[in-house]
Amino acid sequence: MALHKGGRAGAARKRGYAVNPFYGEADPVAGMAVEPPRLRLPDGPMAPHTAYQFVRDELMLDGNARLNLATFVTTWMEPQAAALMAECRDKNMIDKDEYPRTAELEQRCVTMLADLWHAPDPASAIGCSTTGSSEACMLAGLALKRRWALAHADRYPHGGARPNLVMGANVQVCWEKFCNFWEVEARQVPMEGERFHLDPQAAAALCDVDTIGVVTVLGSTFDGSYEPVADVCAALDALQERTGLDVPVHVDGASGAMIAPFLDEDLVWDFRLPRVTSINTSGHKYGLVYPGVGWALWRSHEALPEELVFRVNYLGGDMPTFALNFSRPGAQVAAQYYTFLRLGREGFRAVQQNARDVACTLSEGIGAMGDFRLLTRGDELPVFAFTTAGGVDSYDVFDVSRRLRERGWLVPAYSFPPNREDLSVLRVVCRNGFSLDLAEHFLEDLRSLLPELRRQHGPLGRPESVATAFHH
Ligand SMILES: Cc1ncc(COP(=O)(O)O)c(C=O)c1O
Repeated sequence: MALHKGGRAGAARKRGYAVNPFYGEADPVAGMAVEPPRLRLPDGPMAPHTAYQFVRDELMLDGNARLNLATFVTTWMEPQAAALMAECRDKNMIDKDEYPRTAELEQRCVTMLADLWHAPDPASAIGCSTTGSSEACMLAGLALKRRWALAHADRYPHGGARPNLVMGANVQVCWEKFCNFWEVEARQVPMEGERFHLDPQAAAALCDVDTIGVVTVLGSTFDGSYEPVADVCAALDALQERTGLDVPVHVDGASGAMIAPFLDEDLVWDFRLPRVTSINTSGHKYGLVYPGVGWALWRSHEALPEELVFRVNYLGGDMPTFALNFSRPGAQVAAQYYTFLRLGREGFRAVQQNARDVACTLSEGIGAMGDFRLLTRGDELPVFAFTTAGGVDSYDVFDVSRRLRERGWLVPAYSFPPNREDLSVLRVVCRNGFSLDLAEHFLEDLRSLLPELRRQHGPLGRPESVATAFHH
């Protein structure tokens, strides 16, 4: 949620009607000229269709989701899924006694994911739905922190120790939030040279007795690359042999945990690695559901301390829950189950392969233009990052992002974290619904901008107030 600071009060009154005269029923007394207040509750009600029209008109100015190459989040579902979600919109996920079937669908989704991610015993897997990966990461981080605290209760009988979590500098902001909110030191392995994600040896070197875990990302939000989860586990195995430290691994599979099982079956990154204790994914990214659902799973009951699980009986029943919030819509969970049934493994494979094919074709086309250097190619996550090629000095990635926006495309430009702050990139996320046809249009638009960009006398500078539609 953006932290809003209040609106622009007293916006200048213009000549003419502030309101479309057709919406004349806004106020039966003052008639069609009256605009409802924007920053305080109106004194009285208005007709539903008028209110609807006002809100709809404002929302019309939002971007076109199909041209948004910045977001990972699902922007298209089938009408049947939309109908199902509309039918479930009044169901509250927490109310498991009132809506036992929704709770059952949640449990089935957890079991299916546990099977997909090779949990030792999927039938007794433990996990939950969340609002997205951020909440799932908070829960996984909390479980790591509590396990560490329980294991070290003798060393720190009065508290006082500062736990730490090891990760790459490329982690998504949710991990910085976790560390900030729950007072854990974030130990970040910086990028070096052409290495843009976590290095296994460097990760192991940062671990000590107060390390609650290592976070590995599949794949990186910055460039779509997979982190080497198995190598990180191997480095931690070696650390344990040398020092006795037993450091668990969490895999942030916000996107990749719904790509790798279908397209990279031989890649061992999940519960097949004994050191991997928990995994999260965003149902609303490559899980192909509209925004509002994520998943957190633990390899076994031991990985999730029982004392974090709450049982409340005020809604009837006594269902255990692990969540940051209480009430939450059930529709997304129903939609996730629908998507699982609808696609099955083969369907998911086809959809994800298509996204990867589009990403690879697009990156190849961009690479062939000569003005750009590809950092990744979209052959892991269907996501790739590119920057301007050596010798291109009349414009930079921020200019490209700005110019593409004029054609309706949202392609974020941003600088990398330490130690590659000198490197700024553009990133393209290919999602279901971004077809090869649209990709061709994108290539054509980018190509047609280049002559003008090349004629610039230098980059126009990184916009300070104008966001390029992106922030990690
Ligand atoms: C690797 C990674 N982790 C966590 C998140 C946060 O996910 P969500 O938007 O589902 O909260 C993202 C979002 O892009 C991500 O890429």
